[in-house]
Amino acid sequence: MFLMAFMILLAALLAVVVLHRVTKRHSSYSAYNLPPGNLGIPVIGQTFSLLQALRTNTDHQWFRTRINEYGLVSKMSVLGSPTVLLAGPAANHFIFASEDLILTQTRALRSLLRRSILTLTGDELKQVRSAVQGYLRPEMVRRYVHKMDEEVRRQIKLNWVGRDTVTVLPMARNLTLAVICSVVFGEDAAAMVEAHGSDFQLLGDAILSFPVNIPFTRFGKGMKASANIRKAMRRIVQRREESLLHQGFVVSSTDFITYMLVLRSKRVHSLTSEDIVDNVMGIIIGAHGTTSALITFMIRQLANEPDVLARITEEQDHIADSKGTGNALTWEDVSRMKYTWRVAMETLRIAPPVFGSFRTATKDIQYQGYQIPKGWKVFAAQSITHLDSRFFNEPTKFNPCRFENRSSIPPYSFLPFGGGPRMCPGTEFTRVESMVVMHYIVRQFRWRLRHKDEPCMKDPKPTPIFGLPVQLELRNPSTNLGA
Ligand code: HEM
Ligand SMILES: *[C@@H]1O[C@H](CO)[C@@H](O)[C@H](O)[C@H]1NC(C)=O
Ligand SMILES: *[C@@H]1O[C@H](CO)[C@@H](O)[C@H](O)[C@H]1NC(C)=O
Repeated sequence: MFLMAFMILLAALLAVVVLHRVTKRHSSYSAYNLPPGNLGIPVIGQTFSLLQALRTNTDHQWFRTRINEYGLVSKMSVLGSPTVLLAGPAANHFIFASEDLILTQTRALRSLLRRSILTLTGDELKQVRSAVQGYLRPEMVRRYVHKMDEEVRRQIKLNWVGRDTVTVLPMARNLTLAVICSVVFGEDAAAMVEAHGSDFQLLGDAILSFPVNIPFTRFGKGMKASANIRKAMRRIVQRREESLLHQGFVVSSTDFITYMLVLRSKRVHSLTSEDIVDNVMGIIIGAHGTTSALITFMIRQLANEPDVLARITEEQDHIADSKGTGNALTWEDVSRMKYTWRVAMETLRIAPPVFGSFRTATKDIQYQGYQIPKGWKVFAAQSITHLDSRFFNEPTKFNPCRFENRSSIPPYSFLPFGGGPRMCPGTEFTRVESMVVMHYIVRQFRWRLRHKDEPCMKDPKPTPIFGLPVQLELRNPSTNLGA
C-alpha cells in the first residue's frame, strides 16, 4: 500500500522534473524506426496502469494485451522512461546476452547499497562478480549445508512448533534472513540478526521507494537502516582483519567477510573494506526476499495439492529413514530431493519471485529491425514465457512433472534466475535452502490455508495480501527431529 503512494509521488515528481527534457528528446527520434506502441501521457505514460496491474496481480494479462495489440516488440513509458517491452525466448536471450544493455537498478537501491555487485559496472563489477560467484558456487554451498540445517531447525522450533496458526510470509522472511546471515556473518550472525534484523527488513522495503532522504519515509528509514548495518559491519570487518593478521591468513571459517579478506590478501581483488560491507548487503538483499517468496508459495501450493504433498512427504520420509535420527541433512541428502526440487521449480514458474528484467541501452541498438535509442529501458517479464502454452502445456496447471525432462523445456523460456553474465549467482544456495526448509516443514506439519483463495499482489515480489496465514497441526507428534 505504501509502495503505491510512493510510486504515485515518484511519478508525479518525475513528471515535473523531466517533462521538459523528455518532450524535447521525443521530437529528436523522428529519424528512428521505433517499435510500435504509444508512450501515453508524457512521462507518466503507462506507469499507473502497470502499477495497478501489479497491485492486483494481473500484470500477466496486462503484458499479454500489449503483445496482442503491438506484437513482440513494443514501446511504452513507465516510471519516467521510454521502455521497450520485449517478449518471447529470443527476446530473453537478447536481454541477457547483449553487451549494450546494462542492468538497471532504482536510484534508491544505488543510494542504499552504494558499491555492491548490484550497482557496480565495468572492471569493478567483474572483480566483485567473480568473488561473489566463487563464494556461492556449489562446492562452497556444500560447506554451508550444516549451518543452514542448524538455523532452519532452530527457526522452526522457535516460531512454528507449538502454534496453531502461523502467518507464513513474515515467518519465511525471518527464517531466510537468519539463514543467509548465519552463512555470511559466521560467528557474528546471531548478534547481527538480533540487533539489525529489522534494519535488514527496512533496507529491503526501501529499494523501490522515492529516493529523497526524509525521515519516516520508506527511503529515509532505509537509509538509516543501511547506515546502522554499515556501522556494525565495519566493526566486524575490522575484527576479522585483526584476527587474520594474527593467524597469517590460514582460516577455516566460511563467512563472506573472511573469504573476501583472504582473497584480497592474495590480490585476487582490490576492494576496500567498505566495498566488502556493501557487498554483504547486496548478497543479503538478493537472497532474502526471493527465497522467502519461494518458500511461501511452495507452502501455499502444497496446501492446495494433496497429491503433490503426498509425493514430497514420501520422498522426505525416505531420506529421513535412511539417516540416523537428529543428524543434519547433507548435500547428498539434498541432491536426492529430486521431486521436491521439481515442485520448487514449478512454483518458480508460476510465481517467479523476480517478475522481470530491466536493462538500459548504453547506445542505440537494433532489435528485430527496430531501433532502441540510447538511454531507453528494455524490459521482459518472466510470465510472458512461463505462462505461454506453446512452451508449457496447460500453463496454469501446477504440474511438477513437467520438469522431469529438462530438455522438453525450450531454451530461454524458463528463467526464474535470469540468464547470461548477470544470472543469479545464488541458485545452488536457493536449492539447498529451500530443500532443507521443505524437509523439516513437510515432515513435521500439516496445514490449511486460512483464506482459501487469498489474493496476491506484486510488491513487486509476489505477496499474498494477508501474508498467508495457515492453520498448523503436528503431522505426527512422535516425529523426532532431534532439534
Ligand atoms: C528463489 C530464489 C532466487 C531467485 C528467484 C533469484 C532471482 C534472481 C534474478 C532473476 C537475478 C537477475 C536479475 C536480472 O538479471 O535482471 C538475480 C540476481 C542476483 N541474485 Fe538472485 N535469486 C534468488 C536467490 C538468491 C540468493 C539465495 C542469493 C544469494 C545468496 C542471490 C543473490 C543474487 C545476486 C548477488 C544477484 C545480482 C547478480 C548481478 O547483479 O550480477 N539470489 N537473482
Ligand atoms: C521477525 O524479526 C523481526 C526483527 O528481528 C521481529 O521484530 C519480528 O517480530 C519477527 N517476526 C516474526 C513473525 O517472528
Ligand atoms: C525429453 O524431451 C525431448 C524434447 O521434447 C524428447 O526429444 C525426449 O525424447 C524426451 N526424453 C524423455 C526421456 O522423455
